[in-house]
Amino acid sequence: MEKKGQIYEGKAKILYNTNDPDFVIQYFKDDATAFNAAKKGTIENKGVFNNKISTKIFEYLKSEGVPSHFEKHLSDREMLVKKVEIVPIEVIIRNKAAGSFCRNYGAEQGVELSSPVLEYCYKCDEFNDPLMNEYHIQVLNLATPEELEVIKNYTFKINALMKQFFAKLNLDLVDFKIEFGRCKGEIILADEISPDTCRIWEAGTGKKLDKDRFRHDMGDIEEAYQEVLNRVSK
Ligand code: TMP
Repeated sequence: MEKKGQIYEGKAKILYNTNDPDFVIQYFKDDATAFNAAKKGTIENKGVFNNKISTKIFEYLKSEGVPSHFEKHLSDREMLVKKVEIVPIEVIIRNKAAGSFCRNYGAEQGVELSSPVLEYCYKCDEFNDPLMNEYHIQVLNLATPEELEVIKNYTFKINALMKQFFAKLNLDLVDFKIEFGRCKGEIILADEISPDTCRIWEAGTGKKLDKDRFRHDMGDIEEAYQEVLNRVSK
């Protein structure tokens, strides 16, 4: 596969065309941002960790019947993915209270939620990714009701699968954000699944092994990402 010109540069990744119009290369950067880029920095080798961790998770989900844009791991920082049109919705699942759930609703961090909470945010930096519901999605024409049904079903399935996957590695999946894309008339999982987009705590100790270490200047950030990679590579 031949790498062609850059299509898009986001906060954590760059997309490149290839000589095949159906595929693009997703390149993972070390750049890290938080709070809608109010905080900026770099996490050494984050791109390598997230590329490898995402690869493992996409492969696992595929083996369990969840289709994604992932095609193949190309190099330390690059994966080949299907070209999709991203649905501009950040789909979040929460199993335990953390982050904005605590800020918005006064919940105590770490409290187990009686059932997983599904949230949607409008993927739009200009408006600071506002929380929205299915009515907003319909009137803003972000997805059809049929597409949203597919997205919702995949999301709960992904949560159940990932919770189980991480539990076996002695890791607790607190919450995560995923994105979907349209590809040849189908909705498939896209973007990345990594410690940038999940909250992952070590079971028992509750040690944070994700981007919260960067968001809140907790130190040992690279070590945390390395630890998640070591465990998912087992
Ligand atoms: P939140 O508690 O800050 O709303 O985050 C919920 C989950 O979504 C958490 O696992 C981090 C992830 N997330 C992203 O992947 N991108 C984002 O821009 C934000 C705000 C959160």
